[in-house]
Amino acid sequence: MAARGLFITVEGIEGVGKSSNLAFLAAQLREYGVDVMVTREPGGTPLGEDIRALLLSLREQPVSPMSELLLIFAARAQHLCDVIEPHLAAGRWVLCDRFTDATYAYQGGGRGIDAAAIAELETLVQGELRPDYTLLLDVDVATGLERARGRGELDRIEREAVEFFEQVRARYLALAQASSGRFRVVDARQPLDAVQRELAQLGRELLTCWGVRHPEAG
Ligand code: TMP
Repeated sequence: MAARGLFITVEGIEGVGKSSNLAFLAAQLREYGVDVMVTREPGGTPLGEDIRALLLSLREQPVSPMSELLLIFAARAQHLCDVIEPHLAAGRWVLCDRFTDATYAYQGGGRGIDAAAIAELETLVQGELRPDYTLLLDVDVATGLERARGRGELDRIEREAVEFFEQVRARYLALAQASSGRFRVVDARQPLDAVQRELAQLGRELLTCWGVRHPEAG
């Protein structure tokens, strides 16, 4: 039986450069011969992508924070069942663009939902599963929003006020501090090549940690 793969998540507010840095890290790991699959939340399955479209589309009626939270976990339940769990079990590394830390940051920090309620859903939907490693790309809100706004039409969440994103960022940083063994915070205001040097280093560290955990796998 294959040794279980590593579950790595990438987080950050809008405009931190998640997509390009995630693609870079995946390419780096593949160069080392790691079997990596890349996915995202909300999304990653046909149902999850439909839920994503519902969540991000502009709506006339406000979406209640609890509806938002439950939709996100509904998408996550499908994603875990169809994609994340089977790939990890097959020994593949799963590199996921956002996961439950985003829920603590956006629905907890941003929308004000109690973290204990999120933790209950987390246990219900995920059981024991938590990311092995989380990369938090951090940038100040003004820079992040300026970059996001430069990309074109804003979705429902991207239209939130600066204060919302200040809360989201603060919660992300608090999560990283509380679980410093799992998180790596990278300053995403640096030039791209400096960020990618850090990611290359991180890729090497992840391989070492994997080799230690599963000496027979490497
Ligand atoms: P993305 O465009 O970076 O993929 O993210 C989609 C949006 O969904 C982004 O604004 C963050 C939001 N989101 C939440 O609010 N809670 C969550 O749990 C997740 C995964 C994403």
